Parts: sequence; structure tokens; C-alpha cells
Amino acid sequence: MIRKYNESDFNKLNVLGRDISDNYIFDINNDCFVYEENDNIIGFISYKLLVDRAEIIDLFVHINYRRKLIGSKLLENMIDECKSSGCKSITLEVKVTNIAAIDLYKKYKFKIVSTRKQYYENNSIDAHLMYREL
Ligand SMILES: CC(C)(COP(=O)(O)OP(=O)(O)OC[C@H]1O[C@@H](n2cnc3c(N)ncnc32)[C@H](O)[C@@H]1OP(=O)(O)O)[C@@H](O)C(=O)NCCC(=O)NCCS
Repeated sequence: MIRKYNESDFNKLNVLGRDISDNYIFDINNDCFVYEENDNIIGFISYKLLVDRAEIIDLFVHINYRRKLIGSKLLENMIDECKSSGCKSITLEVKVTNIAAIDLYKKYKFKIVSTRKQYYENNSIDAHLMYREL
């Protein structure tokens, strides 16, 4: 089940195996949805709505639950939410080495529009900027 994130979910997110010390992911200004199964949160998507465009902050699925289309469902739900809010486009940044995420976004019609050199981790990894119109 996909539902809106609430603050009491924060502790449950530890089970994901994701470093959630990155509190900005769940910043009050972001929209966030979680995928819940048997009272466990096994994935989430966080994004920022900026009037008529949105920016994906993070999408994450627990390693034991990958390739079961949960990431796809979270992304589809986000796209629907953005459309209902009158949003016209979505952008995101992704490591050029993150083939799983890049393939997922391409499947949902995102295109690589530019590559930012040395964007991540002490400037050692490049990032693709991906974009899709709604
Ligand atoms: C990226 C991520 C969210 C995908 O979640 P998922 O639930 O496993 O993805 P899905 O099962 O919905 O996969 C949908 C499509 O994405 C692509 N994909 C997903 N995992 C892939 C992999 N390991 N290798 C290649 N393509 C992959 C495929 O096109 C797949 O479609 P298919 O199964 O019909 O081939 C997950 O791998 C993850 O949490 N990764 C770590 C966090 C991360 O990198 N997030 C992205 C931040 S921008």
C-alpha cells in the first residue's frame, strides 16, 4: 500500500538499510510517500513541488524487495500526484553509475538532458540530470 509519509514513520525507516541521517529527504517542505507492507515500510519516494515543476529528492526500495515493481509504483504514484497538482515537468539528479535507477526513469519517459561533472562524493562521481514533461 502506498500512503503519505508522516513524522511517526521516521523510526520505522531504519529497517530499510538506508542511511536516513539525511534528514533533508523527509524535510517538511518535501512531499513524501511510503510503500508499506504488513506494517513495515519497504520503500519511499520524496520530492519537492516547486509551483509547476517537481524535483525528485530520493527514491528507495529495501534491497530484499527490489525488482518487484515497488519503485515503479512509487514513481507512478508521484507522477499522478504531480499531474493532479498542475505540475508540468519533473527533474532529478542521478549518479551516472546508477544503472538500476537510470533504467527505471527511462522506462517512465525521463530523458538525460545533461551531465554534471564531479557532482557527488568529494567530486568523484558525475550526475545525470534527467527530465520529463507531464
Ligand atoms: C532504483 C530502485 C528504487 C528501483 O526500485 P525497484 O523496486 O527495484 O524497481 P522496479 O522493480 O520497479 O524496476 C522497474 C524497472 O527499473 C529498471 N531496473 C530496476 N532495477 C534494475 C537493475 N538492478 N538493473 C537494471 N535495471 C533495473 C528495469 O527497467 C525495471 O523494469 P523490469 O524489471 O521490467 O526490467 C532501487 O534499485 C533502489 O532503491 N536503489 C537504491 C536507491 C537509489 O539508487 N535510488 C535512486 C536515487 S535517484
